Amino acid sequence: NPVQAPELDKCSTATNLNTGEKLDINCCPPLVQKITDYRIPPVIRTKIRPSAHRVSQEYIFKYNTAIDRMKRLPADDPRNFTQQANIHCAYCNGAYDQPGQGGLDLQVHNSWLFFPFHRWYLFFYERILGKLINDPSFALPFWNWDNPKGMTIPPMFDDPKAAIYDEKRNQANRPPAVVDLGLTGSTDPLQVVSNNLTIMYTEMIRGNSTATDFMGQPYIEGTPVNPGPGASERGSHTSVHAWVGDPRQPSGEDLGNFYSAGRDPLFYCHHGNVDRMWTLWQYYLPNNKVPEKKITDPDFLNASFLFYDENAQLVRVYVRDSLSNLAMGYDYDRVDLPWIDYRP
Ligand code: C2O
Repeated sequence: NPVQAPELDKCSTATNLNTGEKLDINCCPPLVQKITDYRIPPVIRTKIRPSAHRVSQEYIFKYNTAIDRMKRLPADDPRNFTQQANIHCAYCNGAYDQPGQGGLDLQVHNSWLFFPFHRWYLFFYERILGKLINDPSFALPFWNWDNPKGMTIPPMFDDPKAAIYDEKRNQANRPPAVVDLGLTGSTDPLQVVSNNLTIMYTEMIRGNSTATDFMGQPYIEGTPVNPGPGASERGSHTSVHAWVGDPRQPSGEDLGNFYSAGRDPLFYCHHGNVDRMWTLWQYYLPNNKVPEKKITDPDFLNASFLFYDENAQLVRVYVRDSLSNLAMGYDYDRVDLPWIDYRP
């Protein structure tokens, strides 16, 4: 059977997975009784998520306004900034158990649930931001770290006065530092760029012979957490978290630790690109090595999660409804893919 959505009334204390200690914050969401099965609204106009390095001043202003309003929502509003950050903590740090499976933790990382869960998370986050600025066309930016033109923290996130700023980041890796997708520690920017492109080629093309190599290993009801991440989750995704996380903090906060990652607005921009990698892999890349990219196992398709939508309604969503970004109403700005034939 598929992994079931968690029972919110059984949400309990989360654990800092970096240290193994119980967290002293409560990352459980507010409780309501009514859960609705979510229907994706009809797509009237496809939202285009922009590259974070190429956005206009006007976009930056709107985005900051939306985040600022999210921070000012009442603390117990499920759309509040901290509540949204806590979604990641609850689903990733053992606050939830799998329903009916004893004390077995629920975990959305290191398995085939990784891409669908984060896609839904960003989907609602984006709709909440759009609602807060009365702009239903608002689209989150993506951090284009797979392209040399995007291999620094996007400048708009490095403005200390901005709502999207977070001081808990590695100060050595502020722009113009080049993101190090292999965590090589190299200080030669040209070498890091070249290594990044090799990593992208390997994760996206060369290293995958089956759909689960890319997506992550099967994770079904009653089985233990962490069956194994896909290539992109394990590689570039995790490296960016670790590279941005602040070594001055006790355990890599914010981006370098599951429970705190969602507190940095850069998280949702980073995951925009992670999600974009999924779309490229599904629809764009040469598929001679992986002839069947679709996972048709019902235990995958029928897995479900709970989120609060932009109207603060609690909704149940399914993996099967997350497989097409276009059906969900958004796409990514087209940019070059310089790694596509970067054979090592
Ligand atoms: Cu849920 Cu990038 O982690």
